[in-house]
Amino acid sequence: MTERKIEIKIRECQLSELSESDRNLVEMARRASMGSHSPYSRFAVGAAILLDNGEIVTGANQENAAYPSGTCAERTAAFYASARYPGAKFVKLAVAARNVPGPYVSEKDYDRSFQALPISPCGACRQALLEYENTDAPTEVILYGRERVMVFPSIASMLPYCFTEF
Ligand code: THU
Repeated sequence: MTERKIEIKIRECQLSELSESDRNLVEMARRASMGSHSPYSRFAVGAAILLDNGEIVTGANQENAAYPSGTCAERTAAFYASARYPGAKFVKLAVAARNVPGPYVSEKDYDRSFQALPISPCGACRQALLEYENTDAPTEVILYGRERVMVFPSIASMLPYCFTEF
């Protein structure tokens, strides 16, 4: 019998400890959450992806009255990025989420509307994102929370023993 242990090195820090370009990506994810269509969950998520061609693509979750027809922010951004820039690999992904008490959030309440702790991409998004990761230069994942930011080294590290070939 063989036993295997899987280890992931996750960094936890404050937003202020990120580089300026990473903070910019986080802000783009936060802003992207304003494009969320989430009348059912009232939970707005934004994602921003830095591509290996230097472009940044964003997305937000889109819900639907027929619930399963909706899509998470990460997949909205990933699929748009691939459709817009076929073959581009993902260098970094930032995700931010907030509760949406009403249709609009004033600039004053914008900051504190975000979750204190980061949210983490769902399994389906991890599987979808994996397809655009360059294994030689993995996609860093920055999960934003007001009180804590978590940085994962790759998509693959978030989905061990993933399905990649058939
Ligand atoms: N959602 C995302 O967009 N990304 C995540 O990482 C987790 C969940 C969305 C799906 C749904 O529109 C809402 O958040 C509540 O689950």
